[in-house]
Amino acid sequence: MEFSSVKGFRDFYPEDMVVRNLIADAWRRVSLRNGFVEYEGPMLEYLDLFRVKSGDEIVSQLFSLTDRGGRELAIRPEQTPTLARMVNARINALPRPIKWFSIPWVCRAENPQRGRGREFFQWNVDVIGSDAALADAECIFTLADLLAELGLAPSEAQVFLSSRSLITAALSAVGVETSRHAALLPILDKRDKVPAEAFEEMCAKEGLAAGQIASISAFQDAATLEEAAARLGPSDTVAAECAKLAEVMGILDRMGAGDYCRLDLHVVRGLAYYTGVVYEAFDTDRSLRALAGGGRYDNLLETLGGPTLGATGFGMGDIVLGILLAERGKLPSTAESCDCYVIDAAESLFDAALGVVAELRRAGLRTNLSYKRQNLGKQLKAAARSGAAVAVIVGEELTEAGEVTIKTLATGDQRRVRRADLVAELKR
Ligand code: HAM
Repeated sequence: MEFSSVKGFRDFYPEDMVVRNLIADAWRRVSLRNGFVEYEGPMLEYLDLFRVKSGDEIVSQLFSLTDRGGRELAIRPEQTPTLARMVNARINALPRPIKWFSIPWVCRAENPQRGRGREFFQWNVDVIGSDAALADAECIFTLADLLAELGLAPSEAQVFLSSRSLITAALSAVGVETSRHAALLPILDKRDKVPAEAFEEMCAKEGLAAGQIASISAFQDAATLEEAAARLGPSDTVAAECAKLAEVMGILDRMGAGDYCRLDLHVVRGLAYYTGVVYEAFDTDRSLRALAGGGRYDNLLETLGGPTLGATGFGMGDIVLGILLAERGKLPSTAESCDCYVIDAAESLFDAALGVVAELRRAGLRTNLSYKRQNLGKQLKAAARSGAAVAVIVGEELTEAGEVTIKTLATGDQRRVRRADLVAELKR
């Protein structure tokens, strides 16, 4: 009987772990230097936490289970409701603004396809306790900082900025009642993903007239905020929302991240809880799915029983990012496994070789040796296969002169050094 891995779940062989760790290390490094501190939540939550708060789409993608006590649980499909729950639980003790990041492993029962799995690691970066445009800008700056950190230039990846509250203001400006906004947002979010007729049909079903569909589409297609506002006609709310988004974009410009950011009012976001500035990052050719997505969610803490508190942030998965880095040649070509391979030239020198292995390891050098007592030639072949940069040969010169041989495996060059100086020589 043969077993395969569960559909949509990944095996991480050592070469895959190199990529996963490269990404996670960059996420952590960039978060810390942007002033965020790390937290983690549990893998299982009560299903109710996700039910109303995240929207139908994500709830339909949940892996859920009932425990022996009959409680309905879910494997987290995202971290934001957990973050809101954790912050609510300590709301009076936490100094604000709360700048937290996390790298949870999350699961979604989606149809696996290129860039989408049923499990992934998701970097979450959030600021809670601030309504300031600077809080949104800091999150977006951190996202751009990560792209740069991994060697992705603005010509390769971009953050596309928009605003939910601007889009709802636009819907009002074209005469759509507020009560219909919630149903229309997921449709506008799908506009780029479905054929034009299907999009118009969905809008019509929600009661939008042809003229309204044309106006809202023209608004979304605008290249600048001025143009977008002009296409709607005069509206104070639209003007105020444009000003808020312009403020975020202005800060990003002044912080030098403007090259990574672009206006795109097609971005609406699928999750239900967003209330203000929203954004998604993509590869610049848009040949892949979204690299990251986020925005402001000012009502989520309150919906989960906490105070009304401004909140903003984003999530970035490891899968699409890994694909883009591979496509762009930004990943290391091989997994280096060790630094040194220690060889005993004769079995009588095995104990001395063990002593060398132990000392090199204590000195922090990644060291391997053969499990079989073999001749020098076979051990040298094993050393080459191990990926080590050098072989340390413990031979008769140890007993004769207190020396060992260092052989550089790439060139075959070798030199003798005093046994006592070995660590210092290797570190040099
Ligand atoms: P999201 O747009 O659902 O937002 O996910 C954010 C990112 O997670 C996506 O852009 C993508 O990189 C990755 N992702 C999502 N689903 C999958 C999947 N099935 N396979 C691989 N990668 C995936 C959220 O989850 C929000 N909670 C983010 C957030 C944090 N908003 C505010 N704070």
